[in-house]
Amino acid sequence: AEKGLKDYYKNYFPVGVAVSPHSLTDPTESAFILKQFNSLTPENVMKMGPIHPEQNRYVWGPSDAIVNFAQAHHLRVRGHNLCWHEQTPKWLFVNADGSRVSKDTLLHRLHQHIDAVVKRYKGKIYAWDVVNEAIADNPQEFLRNSEWYQICGPDFIAEAFRYAHAADPQAVLFYNDYNTERPEKMERVYKLLKQLKDAQVPIDAVGLQGHWSLYEPTETELRTTIERFASLGLQVQVTELDVSVYPWEKDRRAKRPGESDAYTPEMQQKQAAQYGMFFKVFRDEAKAGRLTGVTFWNVSDHYSWLDTYPVAGRKNHPLLFDENYKPKQAYHDVVKF
Ligand code: G3I
Repeated sequence: AEKGLKDYYKNYFPVGVAVSPHSLTDPTESAFILKQFNSLTPENVMKMGPIHPEQNRYVWGPSDAIVNFAQAHHLRVRGHNLCWHEQTPKWLFVNADGSRVSKDTLLHRLHQHIDAVVKRYKGKIYAWDVVNEAIADNPQEFLRNSEWYQICGPDFIAEAFRYAHAADPQAVLFYNDYNTERPEKMERVYKLLKQLKDAQVPIDAVGLQGHWSLYEPTETELRTTIERFASLGLQVQVTELDVSVYPWEKDRRAKRPGESDAYTPEMQQKQAAQYGMFFKVFRDEAKAGRLTGVTFWNVSDHYSWLDTYPVAGRKNHPLLFDENYKPKQAYHDVVKF
């Protein structure tokens, strides 16, 4: 059979993809996934809102479907995620009378949640994004002023790792975040990771989400980030890779009337060069024992979360395969080495 990404990279790292359950029941899409990838991340269904919508009710079906498919086809699964400020259930931060919960109550709820989810998939999910995006967007601030932080202060982060480790001591436990290659953000993530390591919190790894663009990061920024985090004794994975064809600065406002969103040959070439550079760095860092996995955030340009974020009505083309699942130039540059 013709080779896929997972075959080209078999001596380097598993190559994963973020999926929803419906991708796995569609025969064409599931066959494509099995040809190209050997690791899955649930794009949404394992997040606390979807999987734990009421205090005493879990919705396991969609999540089980992904894990069962992975088991049947010998794929790895990365669990995503256990503690995040987005996609939280309505009940989580409030008491029955509508008042805000205490720190003790919130930590107790977090413990129960992590215990239930991690134990259910023990031995089937090899890695967990335990805490996601806890660093503030504002470079002047350290931790994000989320409800988790407002109620617990910084302690929820270490506690989440301790709960996850107790539930499955074999699982590889990650802190996961975006824009980690921007020097100011890298320093703040490093500071958090170092605090956790110094306090002997059971953290094993750091996920660079990898929501990148034609313009960033540079090769030096990428290598520096991986090597700096690895210097703390942590594994590094790229957990949510895509390469937007729009600059993130420009992304921060709505599309202007009449603005072109053509995917020009120049953009396609620049994207292929970026992907080629990223995977050269990934191979080097894998050989050096620092990088242990790469996961794409969606399968092909047929569907990407970037088609509707941050503005709707503008098609993005961030992946290695086009809308018809045909390999793009970027794919050829990634597998040619
Ligand atoms: O499930 C509801 C559906 O019932 C409703 O009809 C529909 C109408 O809007 O919304 C559906 O929920 C959407 C959900 O995706 C499932 O499709 C939410 O609105 C939408 O906000 C949500 O977006 C997800 C986003 O996380 C949530 O913030 C994206 O699919 C998902 O790709 C994205 O993934 C995140 C990672 O978890 C963390 N890192 C960043 C990454 C990209 O934002």
